[in-house]
Amino acid sequence: MSAVVQATPLRETTLPPLPKGDACTLILFGATGDLTKRKLMPALYDLACIGCTNNAFEVLGIGRTEMSDDEFREKMRESVSSSRDARDFTPEDWDRFAERLHYIVGDPNDPSFYPQLADRLDKMEKNGSSPNHLFYVSVPASVAPPIVEGLGDAGLARSEKGWTRIVLEKPFGRDLKSAHELNEIVARVFEEPSVYRIDHYLGKETVQNILVFRFGNSLFEPVWNRNYIDFVEITAAETLGVESRASFYEETGALRDMVANHLLQLLTLTAMEPPVAFDADSVREQKVQILRSIRPMTVEEVAERTVRGQYGPGTIDGKAVRGYRQEKGVKPDSKTETFAVVEFHVHNWRWAGVPFYVRTGKRLAESMTEIRVHFKRTPQALFARSNGDHIENNVITLRIQPNEGIAMAFEAKVPGTQMRASTVQMDFSYQSAFGSRTPVAYETLLLDAMRGDATLFTRRDEVEAEWRIITPIEEAWQQLPAPNFPNYAAGGEGPEAANELVQRKEHHWRPLKSEEAKELAAD
Ligand code: BG6
Repeated sequence: MSAVVQATPLRETTLPPLPKGDACTLILFGATGDLTKRKLMPALYDLACIGCTNNAFEVLGIGRTEMSDDEFREKMRESVSSSRDARDFTPEDWDRFAERLHYIVGDPNDPSFYPQLADRLDKMEKNGSSPNHLFYVSVPASVAPPIVEGLGDAGLARSEKGWTRIVLEKPFGRDLKSAHELNEIVARVFEEPSVYRIDHYLGKETVQNILVFRFGNSLFEPVWNRNYIDFVEITAAETLGVESRASFYEETGALRDMVANHLLQLLTLTAMEPPVAFDADSVREQKVQILRSIRPMTVEEVAERTVRGQYGPGTIDGKAVRGYRQEKGVKPDSKTETFAVVEFHVHNWRWAGVPFYVRTGKRLAESMTEIRVHFKRTPQALFARSNGDHIENNVITLRIQPNEGIAMAFEAKVPGTQMRASTVQMDFSYQSAFGSRTPVAYETLLLDAMRGDATLFTRRDEVEAEWRIITPIEEAWQQLPAPNFPNYAAGGEGPEAANELVQRKEHHWRPLKSEEAKELAAD
């Protein structure tokens, strides 16, 4: 790229204040788990600090570890005070927030726990707590069914006195069968409108902006199809490894962890038809149509159109890091993939023949999530290029994170006597246009669940449609010869096979930049 043109807002935009959640008690299964510490508590703390939680908002944490309310509060303080998501942490704000936190020890697999939970909620209500109950289930996939059944048996799934909702975290099952069974159990116990299946990518501002970009502008819609688009590339790369989640990750792998939900959601938003309205069902209806247009792959197609990888030792940010098999809690001969590429095809009128390449991996050279839409080249090379004969195609990049924004690459004349073209980039940055204080994904979604807005949550048939696509890939991988793991070095670009897959159609991935390369580019 030889030039960058900034896009700025035409008018000064003041961000509207966030709404307030209903009065409720949030009953949190998995309260001592990783997600609670890293994401949920910082988000709840932030919401409370900016006045988005109701005065009658409280949290009842549930975990297997014996703890008093005060010990639970102390544990949460440690996590929130060191979290990057909790902006402006102050001990005074924390003390005010901590009064709302309570804890109860319990084994969610033990049916005798649920009457105790009902008793505790009853007592809280008698002391003035809200009768509205928001259950939040953040536990391994196998523990979700006994929780839903336990709540049903204890009469906690419905109430005359207030509303009851349940938020189910991913993983929602581990294949089509288990997801279907879980959906059946949930449907027996809860009414579908009170079920919130969460995919936190849908809470990201930039993910929601895909819909505004596509359907709020008449400029792009006419060209958003197979006649103009060559291929779409969707990447979610992380420099992080498995951290302290090896036991979860060993059972899950990159395909189930990222592609089965977050990346398929990005794909559906990029490919879906316009909804009739921006309400929960109209949007979800169109998303399901896209998922239904992706045919489950045969074993042969899986062999041709997918790549899996696992990181070996390498270097990240100048520091030597372990390979996946050397991580604590990982089997020394683990076959779990930490990298996955899939070439999806959406078999409908708009997208026939356009590959959607999806790529995700841990311990890669760069942390970034983006969608790049590559347009077809002009039919004729009329202009010479300053840097060779190759004609560039136009690319629209939707940067989900970091440096949230949208970029458009196009050709411009290089000044001079010759008709030479060079690629320039027009760039819109969220940060410079709207400032930095946009809510993080979990804040948005927790607030929506407290207010009863399900637009950004996935519907039952949507989750099953995702597994209908992913399960055949998992099954084919079991049958196909296992790749020779590890097959990429930590801090690299992933396995070479990922490049070979796209190069067959003369396509390419956006190269991942190592920290050193980014520093060099900035100099
Ligand atoms: C989670 C996955 O759902 O998403 C993690 O379980 C992954 O493995 C995370 O790191 C990525 O989320 P984000 O918001 O950091 O892109």
